[in-house]
Amino acid sequence: MVKIDSNTSQATAQAGINIALVKYWGKRDVALNLPAVGSISLTVEGLGTTTTVRFSDELDHDVFELNGAIKDDLRGSRLLDGVRRISGETRFASVSSVNSVPTGSGLASSASGAAALSVAAWSAAGLSPESAHKDARFLELVRIGSGSAPRSLLGGLVELERESTQVTQLLAPDAWGLRMIVARLTREQKEVSSRDGMERTARTSPYYDQWVQQHPQDLEDARAAIAARDLEKLGRAMERSTMRMHACMMAADPPLRYWKGNTLLVADAVEALRRKGVGAWYTMDAGPHVKILCAAEDEGAVLGELGHVVPADDLLSVKPGPGAEVK
Ligand code: DP6
Repeated sequence: MVKIDSNTSQATAQAGINIALVKYWGKRDVALNLPAVGSISLTVEGLGTTTTVRFSDELDHDVFELNGAIKDDLRGSRLLDGVRRISGETRFASVSSVNSVPTGSGLASSASGAAALSVAAWSAAGLSPESAHKDARFLELVRIGSGSAPRSLLGGLVELERESTQVTQLLAPDAWGLRMIVARLTREQKEVSSRDGMERTARTSPYYDQWVQQHPQDLEDARAAIAARDLEKLGRAMERSTMRMHACMMAADPPLRYWKGNTLLVADAVEALRRKGVGAWYTMDAGPHVKILCAAEDEGAVLGELGHVVPADDLLSVKPGPGAEVK
C-alpha cells in the first residue's frame, strides 16, 4: 500500500485475463453469484487489467474511469462497499483502470477487471492481499464483479471449486510450456452479457440440467490431463466442455449464439492442423473469438495456419501468466 498523504490511500494491482478450459455457465445462487458448476482455466500473461484505487476524503461518491473514460459501475461500487464494510474504511474511492483487451466482447476483461479492482481496493483499504484468495469474504467480493474473476487471482492453471468456491492453482505458469493463441474476431461489444445468457439458458434450455449433471466428469478429465501433462487429453476435454456449453445455450429460447461465421472458419483451421499432426484445440466463450491451446513448440505452425483465415494483427499468442498482484 502506498500512502500519499494523510487524506488518501491508494494501491495499484494488475490481473491477467483467464481463459476457461472447463467452463462455468450457470448459477446456483444469483444474488451471491455462486456458480452451478466448477471450472478450470488458464491465467495468461500480457492481456488484462491494471487498476488503481484511491480512497480520498475529498470524494462524495465513488468515481470509475476505464481506459480514460468516466463510467458508472454498479458492481464496482458494491464491491467497494464490501471492502469498506470489512476494513472500516469510510471514504469513497476513485478507481482508474486500463484494459489491454476489448471490454465486453467476450475476451474475459470483466474477470481481470474484477480481480484487479478487488486486490487494489483490498490493499488500499489496508487489508493484506497476501493469501486474500483463501479468504471467503474476499472471494465473495471478487465474485460480485464476475463469477470467473476469482480464477484470475492465481496464475497458471487454476480450478474454481463449486462447493467451497475456493480457487486452487493446479499448475504454476512456468510448469508446462503451453500457449494460447487468441484469434480476435470482433471489436464490438456482445449483445447479451454472460450474466443474462446464463440466466436465459438455465431458465429455458432443455439441456441445462444435463450440462450441470455431467460437468464433474469434464472437470475430472481435465484435472487428470493436467496432472499427467497430457496436452491431447486436456485439449479434448476443453473442446468437449466448450461444445457442451454452447450446445446448451443454443437450445435456449430464444437461442443464444455467440459465434459468428469466422468463428467456424477458425475452428475448421484448427481441425485441419490436427489432421496434419499438429496438436491444437479450440475454445470459445461468450463471444465470437476463438482461443487455441497448443504446445509452445507448435506456436509457429498454429499461427501460420490461422494466418490464412485471420488477419495477422488479430492473432496473438500468450503464455501462462501470474495471478493478480499489487504493483
Ligand atoms: C463463457 O464470469 O463473465 O466465459 O459471473 O455472470 O459475471 P458472471 O459471468 P462471467 O462468465 C464467464 C462465462 C464464460 C465461461 C468461463 O469463463 O468459465
